[in-house]
Amino acid sequence: MKIISIINLKGGVAKTVSAINIAYTLVAVHGKRVLLIDNDKQGNTSKFFGLYDPYGIGLAELLTDKKVDVDNVILQTAYEGLDIITANMNLLRANKEILMDSVRPQQTRLRKKLKKVRDQYDYCIIDNAPDLNLTVVNALVATDDVLAPIKIDQFSFDGLNEILEQIDEVSEFNSGICFKGCFVTMYQRSSVNEQGTALLEQQGYPIFATRIRKTVKVDEMTFAGKPLLEYAKRSTACLDYVALVNEYLDM
Ligand SMILES: Nc1ncnc2c1ncn2[C@@H]1O[C@H](COP(=O)(O)OP(=O)(O)OP(=O)(O)O)[C@@H](O)[C@H]1O
Ligand SMILES: [Mg+2]
Repeated sequence: MKIISIINLKGGVAKTVSAINIAYTLVAVHGKRVLLIDNDKQGNTSKFFGLYDPYGIGLAELLTDKKVDVDNVILQTAYEGLDIITANMNLLRANKEILMDSVRPQQTRLRKKLKKVRDQYDYCIIDNAPDLNLTVVNALVATDDVLAPIKIDQFSFDGLNEILEQIDEVSEFNSGICFKGCFVTMYQRSSVNEQGTALLEQQGYPIFATRIRKTVKVDEMTFAGKPLLEYAKRSTACLDYVALVNEYLDM
């Protein structure tokens, strides 16, 4: 099982939309078995699949309760081949609890718990919160490849260095972690988008050639609760996510 973290410290850059569509593309186009992990207390990914439960057990309990096993928190989505570990506000408590717990290891919990399903899935995609808290650190310690969605605006560079620094720091626990690159989301042909992308390249960040175009179909998809390949398979963003996954797999 290859573990991919979708991460950016900035909010609203399409982490969740990308995690959902990358995961579903791997399932529907490539026939892979995928586990999606919602690592955000907002629970957007869980809500998208209609599996959000404010009182249910999920990632928070997996990380804090020794007795909770990964099998206990995996749920099936409506799509064969795509399973999920959900999140809710309990992640807030989980972060505090892990921080206060100086007895058990704090950073390696997710990696240890995921070992049991290593042969059950081909990929695990983690949708992270715009944060660098302990549950995000746990995700990075478990991660093989990091992908960072970027929305080009004057703040798009903020936080990238912090992520790279954090990756460097977790490499003490996880020497195999690899920053695969940034990819531009909500792309539209405009001078600011061209200049922003060029600036990213100049700064030496690895960047995917595929850009995800901006389209109203993405907002619609979130209401429909269907990935783009199911909701609008000829939309620009859908074609772009398929191309992005191909570019990633060809690396
Ligand atoms: N390609 C796109 N075209 C148009 N709108 C998009 C596109 N991608 C994402 N969006 C919209 O941008 C908004 C933010 O997306 P999303 O929730 O995935 O971001 P996020 O990075 O996960 O946010 P958060 O940091 O709050 O978790 C949503 O309203 C989504 O519909
Ligand atoms: Mg999100």
